[in-house]
Amino acid sequence: MQALLNLLFGGCEFEASLFPRDLSLVLMRGPRFQLRAALQLGALALTDPNIATAILRVRRKRLTYLTVPALLDLHEAAARVEANNLPGILIEAGCALGGSAIVLAASKRADRPFYVYDVFGMIPPPSPNDERDAWSRYEEIRMGRSAGIGGDPYYGYQTELRERVTRNFERHGFPLERANIHLVQGLYEDTLYVAEPVALAHIDCDWHDSVWTCLTRIAPHLVVGGTLIIDDYADYSGCKKAVDRYFADKRDRFAFEMRSRLHVVRLH
Ligand SMILES: C[S@@+](CC[C@H](N)C(=O)[O-])C[C@H]1O[C@@H](n2cnc3c(N)ncnc32)[C@H](O)[C@@H]1O
Repeated sequence: MQALLNLLFGGCEFEASLFPRDLSLVLMRGPRFQLRAALQLGALALTDPNIATAILRVRRKRLTYLTVPALLDLHEAAARVEANNLPGILIEAGCALGGSAIVLAASKRADRPFYVYDVFGMIPPPSPNDERDAWSRYEEIRMGRSAGIGGDPYYGYQTELRERVTRNFERHGFPLERANIHLVQGLYEDTLYVAEPVALAHIDCDWHDSVWTCLTRIAPHLVVGGTLIIDDYADYSGCKKAVDRYFADKRDRFAFEMRSRLHVVRLH
């Protein structure tokens, strides 16, 4: 039983260092919502077994820092895009080993383009816009002291990460070309230029400046009804600062929903 609970909701070293700042988010991660996620996953196993399998498999293979509730939320947002036939591409900024991106790949229409941005190596340092939480985490990584998911080697210390991620997609049934998935390697500052409508973006890149770059370059292209999912809003103060600053004068145009992560939907 404990092994099952760990697989579903825990077992990630990263989660031990969470810094929840918002009571609603603490509640969203509480036992009631975990039970709800277990029921959701059971229902998904009946209606869409491929997605349920993908979610459980990326957890079991230790390819993601996201919990099952967060992966279910990600899937639901992508499924809504397809059900409403929204125009636009999918984006993930921050892929690490590819676990959350594989769930998005499983949830999207095969011909919808999906761009995945990452350095595919060591995460860049935080900036003076970040606070001690980010800097102490970065110091742990920089000093070679970071454990990986479930005791694996930390992904940032692995060589040929881009090739590993490519293989992870393939092993889960998503050869990049056939699944219309594009890995874009480099710092967002240099690589993340969007010139078409965006239906859904998963922004999972920890630090203030990375999140700020994503927001300023992606959000203006979000279609009406499209969603931004901000992974670290409750976990890193710099991420929260970037999001609060970016949306300060745009609140009337977006709906903000705190699920297992922060979801921001464009209203008009
Ligand atoms: C927490 S990990 C992503 C986790 C992943 N979504 C999962 O399913 O576990 C954050 C990723 O963001 C990337 N990243 C952060 N800032 C970046 C930047 N400015 N440019 C490119 N990649 C960045 C890091 O390299 C890292 O792979």
